[in-house]
Amino acid sequence: MSNFENVSAMLRSLQPREPVYCVYPHVYRETAQEFLAGFPGRVLYAVKANNDPTVLQVLIDSGVEHFDCASLVEIEQVREISPEAVCYFMNPVRLIGAARYAQENHGVKHFVVDHPDGLAKLVKEIDASRAVIFARMAVSHESAIWELSSKFGANPDDMPQLLQSIVDCGAEPALAFNVGSLVMSPDAYVQSIDITTTVLGQLPFRVRLVDIGGGYPKSYPGFSAPPIEDYFAAIRSAAQQLLVDDGELLAEPGRALSAPGLSAIAQVLLRKDDRLYLNDGMYGAFWDLRYDAQDRFPVRAYRGDALMTGDSESFRLYGPTCDSGDAMPGKVQLPADIDVGDYIEFGLIGAYSLSGRTDFNGFYSDTVVKIESPDALPPA
Ligand SMILES: Cc1ncc(COP(=O)(O)O)c(C=O)c1O
Repeated sequence: MSNFENVSAMLRSLQPREPVYCVYPHVYRETAQEFLAGFPGRVLYAVKANNDPTVLQVLIDSGVEHFDCASLVEIEQVREISPEAVCYFMNPVRLIGAARYAQENHGVKHFVVDHPDGLAKLVKEIDASRAVIFARMAVSHESAIWELSSKFGANPDDMPQLLQSIVDCGAEPALAFNVGSLVMSPDAYVQSIDITTTVLGQLPFRVRLVDIGGGYPKSYPGFSAPPIEDYFAAIRSAAQQLLVDDGELLAEPGRALSAPGLSAIAQVLLRKDDRLYLNDGMYGAFWDLRYDAQDRFPVRAYRGDALMTGDSESFRLYGPTCDSGDAMPGKVQLPADIDVGDYIEFGLIGAYSLSGRTDFNGFYSDTVVKIESPDALPPA
């Protein structure tokens, strides 16, 4: 891991031929602290959004203590960095034996199920009396760009029985839902919290913990999301009834914590008029653009170690692989004279980029650096 004052210093020193991913620790810190201060409950970082060790370390240094993990591997990645980190095993599907291992070796206490058969399988592996088991409820909202309930989640009508079965197993029952990812309206959470309140009202026992999942969006160029404070305010007001006594909300933000603090530096390999071919693309750091949502990231260009200025033009960007689909969906404004060897820095690219990249066609970079100067900011 190398540290640099700013991107120019990094380019001067490394003159990289492969993509470089720049972690801005002060941006991660601000982003995490804003979420921790604003969300009315416990914040679990969704490791799937970016599991890079430097990013995990920076989030931990910023005060994040709880982690939503989808696999034993993610749990181990977190625990290797911080043995005190509290990991939640929040995937209803796990490798056989993984839940037992997580409980026995990593002290994992929180698990999730969405079906009676999944519950039976889980309680064969773990000591339920030492566990909190979330029943995951299927909820949806038209404002979610990726829906997350067609695969996982029990119908709200089946939730009372599933929660009762969790109690019968000797575990503490809890409720979880995930409205989706890139959820564009705070109302999505309000509706799902209302359904939760109805479900919990039917129970003869108390459910203390309600996990309202991830999905908090970010604005990208040409793609505008409501401010995060609107989500916090709507959630706080909808959840009042759930927060009485020892009631607690949990959130699983991935994108909201990981997107702003990372940039990707790619080099131009070929220019054909208004088309630029880069050493990174849809199988690399642009992985998040494969859905019909945001179509580009904010950019700035460098020649050598100097920022390029001057008239700009609109360009189409392509990745280095043979696949025609390896093309950024949106056009970006870049200096008109940009050419082979120049660098482009892409901002807001910390979510579902490093954790999604592949080595398809042999293109893969693992160069992650830190940009230390508080004055240095990624394109936004
Ligand atoms: C269970 C669960 N929690 C949290 C998240 C994080 O979502 P986001 O990055 O939109 O906050 C996801 C995303 O797929 C998820 O499946």
